[in-house]
Formats: sequence, structure tokens, C-alpha cells
Amino acid sequence: MSATIVVGTQWGDEGKAKCIDYLSENIDYIVRYQGGANAGHTVSVDGETYVFHLIPSGILYPRTICVIGNGVVLDPVAFEDEIEALKKRNIDSEGRLILSEACHLVLPVHRVVDEARENQAGQRKIGTTKRGIGVSYGDKVTRIGIRLGDVFEPAYLKERLDHLLDIRNLELKSYGLEPVDSAALLDQLLAFGERVRPMTRNTSFLLNEALRAKKSVLLEGAQGTGLDIDFGTYPYVTSSNTTTGGALAGSGIQFQYVEEVIGICKAYVSRVGEGPFPTELNGSEGDRLRELGHEYGATTGRPRRCGWFDVELVRHAARVNGLTGLALTKIDVLADYDEIPIGVGYERNGERLDAFPANLSGVKVVYERMPGWKSDISGARTLADLPKACRSYIDRLEELTGVPPRFISVGPARAHTIVVD
Ligand code: GDP
Ligand code: IMO
Ligand code: MG
Repeated sequence: MSATIVVGTQWGDEGKAKCIDYLSENIDYIVRYQGGANAGHTVSVDGETYVFHLIPSGILYPRTICVIGNGVVLDPVAFEDEIEALKKRNIDSEGRLILSEACHLVLPVHRVVDEARENQAGQRKIGTTKRGIGVSYGDKVTRIGIRLGDVFEPAYLKERLDHLLDIRNLELKSYGLEPVDSAALLDQLLAFGERVRPMTRNTSFLLNEALRAKKSVLLEGAQGTGLDIDFGTYPYVTSSNTTTGGALAGSGIQFQYVEEVIGICKAYVSRVGEGPFPTELNGSEGDRLRELGHEYGATTGRPRRCGWFDVELVRHAARVNGLTGLALTKIDVLADYDEIPIGVGYERNGERLDAFPANLSGVKVVYERMPGWKSDISGARTLADLPKACRSYIDRLEELTGVPPRFISVGPARAHTIVVD
């Protein structure tokens, strides 16, 4: 047994959770390794829809152990709300949820500062989810953050919290906002610590031991390669490494265990928030694709920007992540089109670029067009069930991206999945 990494290849919302749910049936451990409650991961099972933010989607399988790794920023309030919401739907996570003692916490002050910074930025805003993600990761990197393991040591926690609040309160003051009092927050964190102490571990140790004992581990990515802090469209990115390197650093598993890296890839592209999007469709064309794909944010409800498949972005994802296969999702959404454009490369100043550039300004997309298939493919269960034009579209994407499709998803449910042999 071994580890499989699942990453998003575009700007998030590729259908990662649907595919992870499909892949999870026989997996022993599912691990979130980065991001936080900014993620919105939708799984449809037996006509029920579940949206996960922090908890790995594998929780729906009764024997799977779900781990929140050290690379995640954990918001105690969002986390406990999510557990409660699951309990109400008869999903009991008791004994199956393990938290890394090294993950950083997202405090209410991080959310307030995230929103204040966005408001202050005006036109220059990132369009964050306002979940405090960037502020919490910022505190991690500047070494004033608070880790889960700190909340079991009252005197140490008080020291850390006072230090963090001294700095964050200065920022709040600069926005004309009320400073945060440490006493009430300290009590809340200590109480949270008592509740989660039994599920808190050294998860790197736990996972490497499990892998050594031949258990299977699936590492569940959030966001996508285009939102990676290093490889994405900086500054319009999230504040973590969403890619394979982030999966290793955010879980602490040894790289030798990794056997597969599956890139989840939508048959078109969407993006939420600000930032460059070379193949974006504006106006009524964009609206049409958004409505066909029901492209509205699972976390914030914001309408997602939509556009055509961008080969250069996925080739970039293939390179950076070491993809061994693709899961091509939402191809059913393209059923109505006579012709389907594919962005096959970028040009700048009349010259073809050989790779995804760090700065996309001035980039023009080169398109080619494929014939559409004009039929509902949601009932297809094998490649042979797909119309010829649809298979040609898939073959062309394989040729252009250089990565073989391993799964084709033709709808939101588990059954809507074609396994490519
Ligand atoms: P994630 O963040 O990558 O897990 O993706 P989201 O859950 O935010 O968004 C994907 C949306 O598409 C969800 O509403 C899924 O239920 C839905 N979905 C996933 N795969 C497919 C598919 O193959 N076809 C269709 N029509 N919907 C899909
Ligand atoms: P999943 O896991 C799509 C985007 C935000 C914003 C930028 C930074 O469901 O694919 P942040 O709150 O992280 O500081 O926001 O990243 N973003 C996502 N977009 N899907 C997500 O998650 C996202 N998580 C963050 O819209 O542009
Ligand atoms: Mg999502």
C-alpha cells in the first residue's frame, strides 16, 4: 500500500471532493494537508449533498480515518460547527478524526483582519474568502502564530496569545477597529483544547507508521495549482502550497511512499475572486457556462468566473506536481456546444511562450476548436458509451497536456464516473 496525492490543476473547484470520495472507498487514511475553511468540497451520495470545508471528504466512509495535517490552518469555530452539522446528518466522526498538534490556528482576529485588509485594498483586493487564511499563514511565517499543541499549556498559550494580539491589535487600531481582549479568547482556546486533546497527535509519526504497516493514505488537496503561493498567479493566490510539495510538507509523510499524483482537472476552467484568467469568457458566454455548470462558490456562494480549457495551466500543473494521471471532470457540462474552443498556448508580443509565466500580463491565448457532441453523456459508464466527438476531445486534451486521463467524471454522483483502464 502507498500514498496517493490528489491536487487541483486549475484555480480550485475542479471537482476534487467528488473524485476523492470516489477514490476513498478502500483507503485507510485521508489527509488534508493545506488550506483551511476557505475550501468548499462538495460530495453527492445517494441524493444527499455534503459540503466540507475543513474535514476530509473521506469521513462519509465509516471506517476511514481522517487526518488534519500540520500544513492546515485550523479554525476551531469552523471545525466544531462542521462536526455538529455532520452529527445532525447522522455522520459520526468520533474516533475517526485526528488533528496534528503542529497545525496553526485561525483565530477570530484573523478573520477580522482578513476582511479589514480586503476592504482597505479596495480595487486592489484579492477577493479572499474572508476566512482569515492569509492572516493566519502570515502569522505562521512571521513566527507569531499559535499551534494546536500550544493550547494544552495555559501559561505558554497566554504568552503566545499576548504576543500575537500585541501585533494584530496594532493593525486593528490602524483600521479604526476595536482591539481584541486576550482573556476571553484564552478561555475559549483552553476549552477547545480540552475538547480536542484526545484527537490530537503527532500526525507525521502516525502516517509514516501507517504507511510502514502497508496502510493506504490519500492526501486531499484544497484549492488548485493556479492558487499556489509559489506557482500560482501571485498575488491572486491563496497562502499555502497547494501542490505536491505542499502535500509532503503539510503531512510530513516520506516522499518514497508516494505512488500516484492525480490532478483533478475540469473540462473547462473556473475561478473565484480576482486575478488573471486568460481563457475567461465574459458577458453572456460566461453566464451561459456558469449556468450550465452551476458554478457558484461552495464556501462563499459567489458566482464563479468561467472560461475554456487552458492547456498551458494544466501543463504547468503536470510539471509542478509530477502528475501521473488526470481526473477529467464536468465534461457533461459541455453537452450543448456546437464547437468547443481549447486554449492551446500563450503568446506575448507575437511570440509563443514555452511555459506558464509567473506574470500573465500581456498574454494572448492561442485557440483551436473541437466539434461538440451535442448529447447528454451523464449516463455513460465506459469510454465506449461516449460519443466519438467527446472521445476526440478527451484524446486531444491528453495529447496537449501530456497526462493520461485515469477517470472521467460525467456528473456529481459516485456513479457518474468512468474509469479509464
Ligand atoms: P472542489 O472544491 O474541487 O471539491 O469542487 P467543488 O465541490 O467546489 O465544485 C465542484 C462542483 O461540481 C460540485 O458542485 C460538484 O458536486 C460538482 N461536480 C463534480 N464533478 C462533476 C461532474 O463530473 N459533472 C457535474 N455536472 N458536476 C460535477
Ligand atoms: P477549493 O478547495 C476556489 C481563492 C479565493 C481568492 C484566493 C485567496 O474548494 O477548490 P483565501 O481566502 O484563500 O485567502 O483566498 O483563493 N480560493 C478558492 N477558490 N476554490 C477554493 O477552494 C478556494 N479557496 C480559496 O477566492 O481568490
Ligand atoms: Mg470548492
